[in-house]
Amino acid sequence: MLSVRDINVFYGDFHVLHGVSLEVGKGELVAVIGANGHGKSTLLKAVCGLVPAADGDIVYAGENTRGRNAPQLVERGLVYVAEDRRLFPDMTVKENLLLGAFLKRGRERQDKTLAHVYELYPRLREREKQLARTLSGGESQMLALGRGLMSAPDLIAIDEPSLGLAPNLVDNMLQTIRQLKEDGMTVLLVEQSLALIEGVVDRIYMLEEGVISEDAAQSAKPAG
Ligand SMILES: Nc1ncnc2c1ncn2[C@@H]1O[C@H](COP(=O)(O)OP(=O)(O)OP(=O)(O)O)[C@@H](O)[C@H]1O
Ligand SMILES: [Mg+2]
Repeated sequence: MLSVRDINVFYGDFHVLHGVSLEVGKGELVAVIGANGHGKSTLLKAVCGLVPAADGDIVYAGENTRGRNAPQLVERGLVYVAEDRRLFPDMTVKENLLLGAFLKRGRERQDKTLAHVYELYPRLREREKQLARTLSGGESQMLALGRGLMSAPDLIAIDEPSLGLAPNLVDNMLQTIRQLKEDGMTVLLVEQSLALIEGVVDRIYMLEEGVISEDAAQSAKPAG
């Protein structure tokens, strides 16, 4: 479904990603792990058209999408959920969700997707009229993920969803992400540590100083 081949990404003169390649099959839940500043967010942003890859290929759903911008990719079913959540603080929960369905693809499926998001996160339904700025950390993360889902993605790229969450909430959140996979969505997940995601994901890549390798031992273990 997604094949990244030998991409390099620069911020000015700073070379962040060095010949990175990765594969995500349809229906897979694949994780990229790595420490602070090693290029995880940059990789997801490059895949989702938010930062340019200088060379290499990004093939998504059979099309070379390197050079396409984020809205074009959202229309093709590829969406990025940012680590800093990017909510609109003075809008309600429901308004934030509906913004996720702003483009044609999401709008056409809006009512059905909203029902699905509320099913996944009943808390968001309860809070639909509440301003985003007043949500707890856990609820904010649900809303960020829910808003991503509102664009009706085939592949959702989720950047460090555990950030700032208490351990019990992290477990819930990972189970919801696993549920997305069980429901047929393809997921590319970024996290800092192996311990968090072990047993939840199908395969793992490690990103170290902008160089990627597949963790064969971890990936060979069946996901639970
Ligand atoms: N817009 C930018 N301009 C310049 N440098 C940037 C920019 N965005 C990121 N960087 C730098 O690129 C490197 C990789 O950043 P990136 O955000 O991809 O790391 P990360 O692995 O996601 O880190 P974290 O775990 O802290 O989120 C860092 O050194 C960062 O300072
Ligand atoms: Mg990051």
